[in-house]
Amino acid sequence: SWTTGNVIEEQVEAIRELVGDKRAICGLSGGVDSAVAAALVQKAIGSQLTCVYVDHGLMRKNETEQVEKDFVAATGVQLKVVDAEERFLKALAGVSDPEQKRKIIGREFIRVFEQAQAEIIADEGPEVAFLVQGTLYPDVVESGGGTGTANIKSHHNVGGLPEDLEFKLIEPLRKLFKDEVRMVGQELGLPEEIVQRQPFPGPGLGIRIVGEVTKERLDLLREADAIAREELTAAGLDRDIWQCPVVLLADVRSVGVQGDGRTYGHPIVLRPVSSEDAMTADWSRLPYDVLAKISTRITNEVADVNRVVLDVTSKPPGTIEWE
Ligand code: XMP
Repeated sequence: SWTTGNVIEEQVEAIRELVGDKRAICGLSGGVDSAVAAALVQKAIGSQLTCVYVDHGLMRKNETEQVEKDFVAATGVQLKVVDAEERFLKALAGVSDPEQKRKIIGREFIRVFEQAQAEIIADEGPEVAFLVQGTLYPDVVESGGGTGTANIKSHHNVGGLPEDLEFKLIEPLRKLFKDEVRMVGQELGLPEEIVQRQPFPGPGLGIRIVGEVTKERLDLLREADAIAREELTAAGLDRDIWQCPVVLLADVRSVGVQGDGRTYGHPIVLRPVSSEDAMTADWSRLPYDVLAKISTRITNEVADVNRVVLDVTSKPPGTIEWE
């Protein structure tokens, strides 16, 4: 019968045999899937695994530190953190169009990741032959490859690498669903904050600023987002909501009054949603007192924000993210 213990044992053995004395690389995104995949492979081959985390500067407060400290503390994994904030901000300068932002972030991400890979290979020699990915069963089905039982497939020329270097993919979560992945992560000793993490988009806060993405705006949004998350957690609502994007309307200003003066600041949007699979969603009916607390704290504590608004749109017609 299916137990997380069996899955771990089975995968650890298979990965160990497959990798032998070679080496593997795993990209960490901060999300559950890549963290659990990395922890599993780490359990199998220890220091033969190197993880790469690209900090694009679009993460939420303490998120990078969480990967750097908590994940490493829990797994002992070798981690290469690439600080690419400046590069991303430069590439995003002057851009307001959502699709353009997404394309730029995706492109830069791949470039930085490939460069890190190439550096690891240069350092450690061409015996780096495996790339770990946190592909889940629904991902496999969606891309039309659901029947295979093998959890490994060959992959040539993973961008930026020599063409004759064969990279094999290790996808230890290929047969699992999200809740099973969480159970495996828990069994592997990953901290709750990683295992129970709500979805967060790859382009990060870059697509939660309506308008141009700048360092100042990111810092402001990080503060507002941290307050919302803190209060939702304190109210015990994390498991009730699917996720709660916090959005900065950077191109909008409205008049307010604070202390003894007029303000002309930006609105923050709260977008709490409930959902099964993110394909459709409903706006969460959060308790008024929790909303009030979040609103009061954000307008008091975050400079330049004088209004907090609640998004009461389901999906469809709205998407979960604003961009
Ligand atoms: P939407 O906005 O399309 O979002 O209703 C559906 C779910 O997907 C997440 N999302 C992303 N996740 N990369 C990701 O890894 C992305 O580019 C991306 N865009 C949206 C979103 O947070 C929600 O859970």
